[in-house]
Amino acid sequence: MQPIHILAIESSCDETSASILADGKVLSNIICTQAIHEKYGGVIPESASRLHIRNILPVVEEAFAKSGISKHDLHAVAYTKSPGLIGSLLVGSCFAKSYAMALGLPTIAVNHMEAHVLSNLIESPHPAFPFLCLTVSGGHTQIVVCKSPLDQQIIGSTIDDAAGEAFDKAAKMLGLPYPGGPLVDRYAKEGNPLAFKFAQPNMPEFNFSFSGVKTSILYFIQARVKENEHFIAENLHDLCASIQFTIVKILMKKLLAAARVTGIREVCIAGGVSANSGLRQALLEHGKKYHWNTYIPKFEYCTDNAAMIGITAYHKFLKGEFATLDETASARN
Ligand code: KG4
Ligand code: ZN
Repeated sequence: MQPIHILAIESSCDETSASILADGKVLSNIICTQAIHEKYGGVIPESASRLHIRNILPVVEEAFAKSGISKHDLHAVAYTKSPGLIGSLLVGSCFAKSYAMALGLPTIAVNHMEAHVLSNLIESPHPAFPFLCLTVSGGHTQIVVCKSPLDQQIIGSTIDDAAGEAFDKAAKMLGLPYPGGPLVDRYAKEGNPLAFKFAQPNMPEFNFSFSGVKTSILYFIQARVKENEHFIAENLHDLCASIQFTIVKILMKKLLAAARVTGIREVCIAGGVSANSGLRQALLEHGKKYHWNTYIPKFEYCTDNAAMIGITAYHKFLKGEFATLDETASARN
C-alpha cells in the first residue's frame, strides 16, 4: 500500500517551514528563519507576514525537491492553525487551503503547542504513553500529560512571561541581539552558574512565573553597572551561566513535582528552549537520579519547524480529523 504523504506548513512566528512526511516519517523539513527581526530586537509582526508570503513557495518547492515525491503523491495538506501571530498564521493557512483545494485534497489544522509536544514522536526511541512534556518556547511554558497523540492535558503553565521570553529579555539587558536565548546558552558554557543569585519565585502547583526573575536580573545589573560601567562585559559569561542556571532550576523543580505527583516516568522536553544545553543536561541528570526515561527532540525539531506539524497531522489523518475550509487561524489557543 502507498504510504500516506502529508505536506505540512508552519508559519506561526518568524520561521517559514515546510515538511513532507510519509507515514509519519520525515522526508524533508525546510526551515527559513527571518533574520530581519534581529535588528529590531524582536519580531515585527507585519514584516513577519510579508516575509512568509515571499518565502512560502520557495520553501515548499525545496521541501518537495528534497523529499523525492511530487505534489500528486500527497494525501493531505496540514498547517498551523493557532496560537501565534495572526498575520503569519493567515499566510500559512491560506496557502495550505489553496494548495489543497487546487489538488482536491483535505486539510488538517494543527495546534502549534500540541505539535511541539509530538516533536518527541518524530524519532525513535520515542516516549511511551502516558508521558510528561515540559514545553518551553518563546511564547509558552507548559507541563503537559500526553495520554495519546491527540489527548494532551495541560497541568501547568506560566502566569506571565514564557521561559524563552525570560532568556531573550535577560539577554537584551546584557546588550545581546535578538533572539538572545541561544547566545546566553553559548556564553554560559564558560561561566560560573553560581556566581550570581537571582530570585526564584515559587508558584502554586505546576505553574510558573518568570517576571520576578526578570525584574531581579534587571535591578541587579542596574546596581552593578552604576558602580562599574564595564560590569557586564567583565562578567558576561558568569552572568549568562547564572541566568541560565536560575531559569533551568525553576523549570526542573516543577517538572520534578509533576513527575512525582503523576507517577509518570517517561519525561520529555520540547520547544525552542529545549535546545538549551543547560536544560538538556538537567533533564538527563534528573532522569538518572529519579529513574526516568528521558527524551529530547533533535535540534531541528526543537525550534519551530513543520515536521512537528506533520507528525501531529499524521495522527489526525489516521483518526479522520480533517478541517473544513472555513476553519480560521487564531492568535490564541
Ligand atoms: O519554539 P520556538 O522556536 O518559537 C516559539 O514557538 O516561540 O522558541 C523560540 C524561543 C526563543 O525565545 C529563543 O530564544 C529560545 O526559544 N531558544 C533558546 C535556545 N534556542 C532557542 N533559549 C535558550 N537556549 C537556547 N539554546
Ligand atoms: Zn514554537
